Amino acid sequence: MAAAHRGDPQTGGDGVHAPVLAAEVIEVFQGALSAGTPTWLVDGTVGAGGHARALLEAYPSLSILAVDQDPDSLAEAAPVLEPFGERVRLRRGRMSQLGGLLRREGLTGVAGVLFDIGVCSLHLDRPERGFSFRDDGPLDMRMDPSRERTAADVVNSWDERDLADLFFHEGGERRSRQAASAIVEARRRVPFQRTAALADVIAQAVGGGGRIHPATRCFQALRRVVNQEGEELLRGMQAAEHHLSPGGLLAVITFHSGEDREVRRYLKGRARAGYWELQADKPLRAKRDEVSRNRRSRSAVLRWATRSRAEGGEE
Ligand SMILES: C[S@@+](CC[C@H](N)C(=O)[O-])C[C@H]1O[C@@H](n2cnc3c(N)ncnc32)[C@H](O)[C@@H]1O
Repeated sequence: MAAAHRGDPQTGGDGVHAPVLAAEVIEVFQGALSAGTPTWLVDGTVGAGGHARALLEAYPSLSILAVDQDPDSLAEAAPVLEPFGERVRLRRGRMSQLGGLLRREGLTGVAGVLFDIGVCSLHLDRPERGFSFRDDGPLDMRMDPSRERTAADVVNSWDERDLADLFFHEGGERRSRQAASAIVEARRRVPFQRTAALADVIAQAVGGGGRIHPATRCFQALRRVVNQEGEELLRGMQAAEHHLSPGGLLAVITFHSGEDREVRRYLKGRARAGYWELQADKPLRAKRDEVSRNRRSRSAVLRWATRSRAEGGEE
């Protein structure tokens, strides 16, 4: 990670990357966590531990099962959460595996679940992780290094039509066919191994001129498929439905309209079936002063819902 320092607007001022919508997260959990009785919350994407720390400070009777699939994230979170002692259990795992993790910890009926989805600065700032189109690195993009398939595997083996569909549906790239065709043409000569080579080929195929780097959308699509992000989100929400106590609250922060649509669709559908109570029609977004301090927060969307008393829920 790039050296963080006091006063850095991307950090909380003490070197911990600033969690987005932190005040809003604390507020939405108020009803579920403020009773003063000991309760557990699952932070399924603990990252650098910013949200977990803010919640532990705000709710003194709260303990957190802090989970992340990425060992680098767990290493960042460990010193941040260490002062809270036994109120924190830090575990490696995926959102889709929350059921097994909770059973292993002997935790039933948690009061809250938080997911803050997506890539974090820790991934982008370390070129060796292969997420960055700006800094060259191996074409990897796995958040969980035990996954078998890397971005290079996808780029070098998928056929042209599948690559075009991926770039269009998961990245929103309108020139997806041109990008896929250029990749297939280039990999005939030399298979892709590095992010910079791929970013160059995509940039030439889709053209520049926009506000974002021309490879942004294709890289996002590759990251989503390598980490099975759509499936993870759905299975994480299903696990939350199964393991939250009645009155418990699920909060999800997304950074991309397609992901927010998935969250909204799932919660609305399951609310109609009686499993959730939606607390507000509109999601929360970062206020202007947060966006000016932390640019990344400009696309963050927070949705939440309370688990109703209906029995069951899938796992
Ligand atoms: C945006 S960061 C979270 C930042 C965190 N809320 C904080 O305050 O520092 C996202 C984290 O979620 C993790 N992650 C993404 N998808 C995951 C999944 N399916 N299961 C577990 N962790 C996941 C990533 O490894 C990354 O560490």
